[in-house]
Amino acid sequence: MDTVRDFAAFKAQGRKISIVTAYDAWSARIVGRSNVDAILIGDSLAMVMHGHSSTLSATVGLMAVHTEAVARAGAGKFLIADMPFLSYRSGVSSAMEAVGLLMRAGAHAVKLEGVDGHDEVIRHIVGSGVPVMGHIGLTPQSVHQLGGYRVQGRSDSQAESLRRQARALEDLGCFSIVLECVSEHVAADITAALTIPTIGIGAGSSTDGQVLVLQDLWGIDQKHAPRFVRRYLDGDCLLRQALDRYDADVKGRQFPGPEETYS
Ligand code: KIV
Repeated sequence: MDTVRDFAAFKAQGRKISIVTAYDAWSARIVGRSNVDAILIGDSLAMVMHGHSSTLSATVGLMAVHTEAVARAGAGKFLIADMPFLSYRSGVSSAMEAVGLLMRAGAHAVKLEGVDGHDEVIRHIVGSGVPVMGHIGLTPQSVHQLGGYRVQGRSDSQAESLRRQARALEDLGCFSIVLECVSEHVAADITAALTIPTIGIGAGSSTDGQVLVLQDLWGIDQKHAPRFVRRYLDGDCLLRQALDRYDADVKGRQFPGPEETYS
């Protein structure tokens, strides 16, 4: 995937879209050599990289630092950077400052959560020539209002609200929408109703694409993973084994050997 136009083209062709998060240069370089279509510099980095208990701790400055690192890796992928907590809720001009920092850091698009109350901000960002990805369903920046990380869209009123938000985001000019932890039938309805692609995470298989957090996919973070995560590697075990082999080699005087030593 080279540009934002590919998102619509892939949906029209019925070709699924794969996205992963990356927060730093070394992992972005690996993603860059894979077939994965795009990279999200998600505000989940506050939890995964910095050990916070929610995404609320991410700031625009922090997002810009990680976006720069990913962009520097030159992965050759479409880069989407998250607008962090409250950065688009204090009016158009402060939202545009945040957008400017993220785009100058190397993002090709920004993502933000929800629509109600900041629809004018979204319109303005899109109108300024910056592609916007929407994000509805479980919106982690609203975790305290949602009462926890819970599946959304199970009641009729929630389902109707999600359908309305999705239509509004398409009308505002978003190029794509993340559906996080949404009942499968609601995600399927929204996907069928929109011309822009839906990207699911815990939203079943009918969405136009999927996104996963890289550390979850690689099995590096051994905390309890949500049901929607598939681990493609036991990265935690492999990395620990490598460390223990190094430790044993050092203590057993096997490392460094002659081949790792200068004459
Ligand atoms: O921050 C993030 O990683 C995200 C994805 C889970 C969609 O928003």
